[in-house]
Amino acid sequence: MYISEFSHPRGQFQQERFISTVANQLRLQGYCVVPKGLPELLAEPLYAQLQKENAENFKPAGIGRKSDKVLNEAVRGDSIQWIDNVTSAGAEWLRWMEELKIALNRELLLGLFSFESHFACYAPGAFYKKHLDAFPGDANRVLSVVVYLNADWQQEDGGELLLYDPQSDHAIETVSPDFGTMVFFLSEEFPHEVCVAQKKRYSIAGWYRLNSSMNGLIDPPR
Ligand code: OGA
Ligand code: MN
Repeated sequence: MYISEFSHPRGQFQQERFISTVANQLRLQGYCVVPKGLPELLAEPLYAQLQKENAENFKPAGIGRKSDKVLNEAVRGDSIQWIDNVTSAGAEWLRWMEELKIALNRELLLGLFSFESHFACYAPGAFYKKHLDAFPGDANRVLSVVVYLNADWQQEDGGELLLYDPQSDHAIETVSPDFGTMVFFLSEEFPHEVCVAQKKRYSIAGWYRLNSSMNGLIDPPR
C-alpha cells in the first residue's frame, strides 16, 4: 500500500478523489473544471521548464493541417511547443495523463487510446476565437484537457476560457487561467474560446484521441 502512495505525484486518496470528480462530472455534464487539479509535484517542474524555454522555441500555432498565416492570426494568436518525454517534467506529465486515461476508460468506457499535448503561450493581446477541437464524425479527438500555469493571475489580466453550452450556445463557464486549474470537456461538443490576454498567459492544451489507424499507420499523430 505504501508503495503506491509514494509512486504518485500526490497521495493515492487525493488522486482517487480527483479521478471520481472528473469522471462523475464528465458523465453528468460533459465537462469539468478543477481548481488545483494539477498536482504541484507536476506543476512546478512544468512551470520551470516553461521559464527556461522562455517561449523562444515556440512556433505560431496553426489551425487544422493547412497553414495559412493570415487566417491563423485572425483566429488564434498563441505560440506552441509539443510536449514529449525528453524532459523529466514532460515525461512525468505524460505518465500521469496516461494513468488518468486508464482510469477514465475504466470509469466512462470512452475508449481513449492516445494523448498529445502542447504548451501554449499567449502574448499580451493574443486570443483564440470560439472553436471546437474536433468535428463530429472525425472520431479523433475525444476529450480535451487544458491546464493553466499562471501564478497571481488577476481578473483584469483577462485571458479567460469561455465554455459554451452545446445546445443554447450560451457561455456556461468562465474560467480564470489560474495556476494548476484543469479543465476537461468533450472535444466534439463544447465550443470554447480564449478571451484576449492582457499579459503573457501560459497553458497546456491536450487531447485524448481514439485509435484512428489509417493505411497501416497506427494512430498517426495530429
Ligand atoms: C486550444 C484551446 C484553451 C486555453 O488550444 O485548443 O482551446 O484556455 N486552449 O488555452
Ligand atoms: Mn480548443
